[in-house]
Amino acid sequence: MAPPIENTLAILQDAMAAHRDALTREPEARPPFRFAAPPDRRHELVLRLLAGVEQRAGIDVSQPGAEKLLRIFAPVSLGEIEAEVARLESLPASDPEWLALIESLTVHETYIMRDPSQLAFFAALLPDMIARAAAHSHLLRFWSVGCASGEEAYSIAALALDALAKAGKTEVTEEGISLLSPWRLEVVGADISRRALARAQAGVYETGPLSSFRTEAAALLHHFPPLAAAGKNAPAMRAAAPALKRVVRFSQFNIIDGALPPEPFDAVLCRNVFIYFSERARRYAQQRLARAVRPGGLLLLGSTDTLSDATAFEALWAPGAVTYRRRGSDV
Ligand SMILES: C[S@@+](CC[C@H](N)C(=O)[O-])C[C@H]1O[C@@H](n2cnc3c(N)ncnc32)[C@H](O)[C@@H]1O
Repeated sequence: MAPPIENTLAILQDAMAAHRDALTREPEARPPFRFAAPPDRRHELVLRLLAGVEQRAGIDVSQPGAEKLLRIFAPVSLGEIEAEVARLESLPASDPEWLALIESLTVHETYIMRDPSQLAFFAALLPDMIARAAAHSHLLRFWSVGCASGEEAYSIAALALDALAKAGKTEVTEEGISLLSPWRLEVVGADISRRALARAQAGVYETGPLSSFRTEAAALLHHFPPLAAAGKNAPAMRAAAPALKRVVRFSQFNIIDGALPPEPFDAVLCRNVFIYFSERARRYAQQRLARAVRPGGLLLLGSTDTLSDATAFEALWAPGAVTYRRRGSDV
């Protein structure tokens, strides 16, 4: 019997979630949409739906996902699929139904100090950023876009706090490490996924070999004190310290159509996000993010990403890492 059409969204979400593993493959390993049989009306509708995901969130769903959807839709009448696709298409990217569908497709793999060479390079550039800020607003602002469960945002906040401490811009009070007046540090973590953001806001992570705390995290562990065990068999947990939570906040944001923050940032990180995007979405998203970097500021992409239009940036190379610096200076 055909499933009632009101279950379509749930069916789609299940299908998309089951297909998520295909998205973790490198883009070149993901074949473009091409059906074995000549496209019929059902094929067209599935493609329209997947195009809707790509248009609204940039995510490129590959062939197995399209075929899986076709199989799932097999018992549903063509008229019902048409009505459902048309209904979804009339909704904007910010509609909860699209967000739920997109969320079922997103991959939230992340950990503290991921891509350590690049973050070590970022840390090495922090003293210059602090020197510039000392002559300006005494404010450092960083944006982690596609922050997933927050580990990246907390990592850069921890690196920045350590650099500020080294530069003598902090003090240790009863509340832990605090910035000396008039210094301020703002780290914004942004992601399209509300579920990932809820975890980011909590800032509580499991420990263990494949957890948020892998070997790379060792140097930052002092920013994540252990929590008391919740029970005999409960996993050991660590939580972002209050000093980190005071400087990091999280907000929902879609790189493709979210309004850019009005003030540019000293550094924008968007790492391990574009590997799931179509080529055109990647170009478009990179152009948008580039506008959020102040002249002289940094853009950090994932290790497999290239900057499509690097004219406004110069590449800074370090062993095992590249970072882009926006040309010009506002000093
Ligand atoms: C693999 S995680 C990367 C986490 C972190 N940046 C890192 O490198 O460890 C990719 C994240 O990008 C987010 N994402 C995907 N499409 C997005 C979009 N259009 N706008 C904002 N975030 C998006 C996903 O929700 C997911 O949390």
